[in-house]
Amino acid sequence: MIIAIDGPAASGKGTLGKRLADHLGFAHLDTGLLYRAVAAVLLARGIPLSDREAAARAAESLDVSHLDAPDLRGAAMGEAASVISAYQPVRDALLAFQRQFGRQEPGAVLDGRDIGTVVCPDADVKLFITARPEERARRRHLELLRRGEDVAYETILADIRRRDERDMTRPTAPLKAAADAITLDTTNLDADAAFRAALAIIDGKLRKS
Ligand code: CDP
Ligand code: CDP
Repeated sequence: MIIAIDGPAASGKGTLGKRLADHLGFAHLDTGLLYRAVAAVLLARGIPLSDREAAARAAESLDVSHLDAPDLRGAAMGEAASVISAYQPVRDALLAFQRQFGRQEPGAVLDGRDIGTVVCPDADVKLFITARPEERARRRHLELLRRGEDVAYETILADIRRRDERDMTRPTAPLKAAADAITLDTTNLDADAAFRAALAIIDGKLRKS
């Protein structure tokens, strides 16, 4: 069984994905970390993010055993990931790993931007998680503060708006809800309430099928 979760930056996809996976005994993959890890390779080697060939090579030879490195979750890496994720060869190189991950028993939860549309179009349940940009910026601000990164709220909001725009307008795998996705607006839901709402959607969906 596959649960696909897509949505914009800091909408709560990762938190929800992990909670659902723990609850259901499924594996969980935050696919944003793959793009962040590719960006990290380029930045570590001093290669400009505009070098498409180098980005594709980095994606093809990505070591996926270090996705839990804490520095991948920083603000700069999210921005850099959004640049290299627009390159089709980078996306192609990361596809097989994501699809393979989704084939695990008894199930898998994958979250990102194109899980329901491209990576797992046959997912059993597709959720599209949204929240107003101001609320997402507030959450990301608090999250970064907890990590020891004090980035101004206005800077984060501007970054989120820029990233939304880039992710939604790129020609390759743009961020959008799959036709059969159920949208959950978490603007007024904390992580617990979002988890309960998602579980109810999943239960309802599985009862129908
Ligand atoms: O956590 P946050 O939503 O800020 O970012 P993320 O999910 O780690 O993703 C970082 C960037 O990677 C996004 O802005 C997207 O451009 C890209 N990404 C993507 O293109 N496709 C995915 N399946 C996941 C992330
Ligand atoms: O994965 P994504 O970028 O969509 O977001 P996240 O990393 O799951 O969530 C960003 C931050 O917002 C985390 O610190 C969560 O604890 C928090 N959050 C929240 O306050 N309310 C929610 N409904 C979901 C997440």
